[in-house]
Amino acid sequence: MKKIIFDTDPGIDDAMALLFAHACKDIEVVGITTTFGNASIENTTHNALYLKQQFDISAEVAKGVNIPLDQVKTEPATLVHGENGLGNIEIPKVINTQISPLIAHDYLIETIKQQPGEITLVAVGRLTNLAMAIKKAPEIGQLVKEVIIMGGAFGHNGHTGNLTPFAEANVYGDPLAADIVINADWPVTIVGLDVTQQTFMSNAYLEKMRTSSAKYGQFIYDITRFYAKFYSDDLGLDGFYVHDSSAMMYLVAPEIFTTKQGHIRVITEGPAKGHTLFKSSDRVFPIDEWATRPKQTIAINVEPLAFNQRYFDTMCDN
Ligand code: BDR
Ligand code: CA
Repeated sequence: MKKIIFDTDPGIDDAMALLFAHACKDIEVVGITTTFGNASIENTTHNALYLKQQFDISAEVAKGVNIPLDQVKTEPATLVHGENGLGNIEIPKVINTQISPLIAHDYLIETIKQQPGEITLVAVGRLTNLAMAIKKAPEIGQLVKEVIIMGGAFGHNGHTGNLTPFAEANVYGDPLAADIVINADWPVTIVGLDVTQQTFMSNAYLEKMRTSSAKYGQFIYDITRFYAKFYSDDLGLDGFYVHDSSAMMYLVAPEIFTTKQGHIRVITEGPAKGHTLFKSSDRVFPIDEWATRPKQTIAINVEPLAFNQRYFDTMCDN
């Protein structure tokens, strides 16, 4: 059983990843820490509490901060995820509003310390909470099992960015945090656009899941209508990429991914802000801001059909 804390900004594809984790018999979602991005921190936290209530998820929810480390706020991605972050579906009031008394980064520190060696962090939004946690308590680096991130783009398969030509949205939203988290002393795997833009769920696939998964099908169909329209209008696609579930899939099915190891830096300002740069060689250059950084792992390929099958089977097993 893989125990995780899910750091997230729900978010349509975030919700899909959370429900996949909840449905998956190999994953225990211990906690959910919220971050801003797809919507405001108020909305993403409310959405996390709503998902918890609606699907009977036992994980504790802890609210994160509302601003990146460099204090430069970006607008919520309402164009992609709708005003409320869940494709503008009707979101009922959350009756069980119980939320952790701890702010997200303190919740991370506490929970990791209580369960040393047990917790994997799956982070699919801005990395602000994780950066604040590892800065405040560097010792948690040794206590975390693994950190899996959806973010960044390294140019494999032609994928270099989605918010700017050279930056992926989660990293662009807090590049300083991304550079800290990726270069901290804990094992990181990055599942970036290189692979998430190889995954694809068509509207026909969603239709099929709608009728095959009694518990999740209709809900996933409903929240993804707005998302699918964005992909259709913006990219002319009959379906969408499956970003956040790719990180969750890596947790339970790493065998369907190809990875490589190297040193990574994040550009933190200027026109290339949010760009992630991967150095695979061991050559040390006269000036080398990569050489002293830890070697981390990036995913560069995925088997998209195996991905869709595993997602479908997991959701329809309920
Ligand atoms: C990432 O940005 C957000 O819109 C998605 O939820 C995903 O985490 C993709 O770039
Ligand atoms: Ca996300």
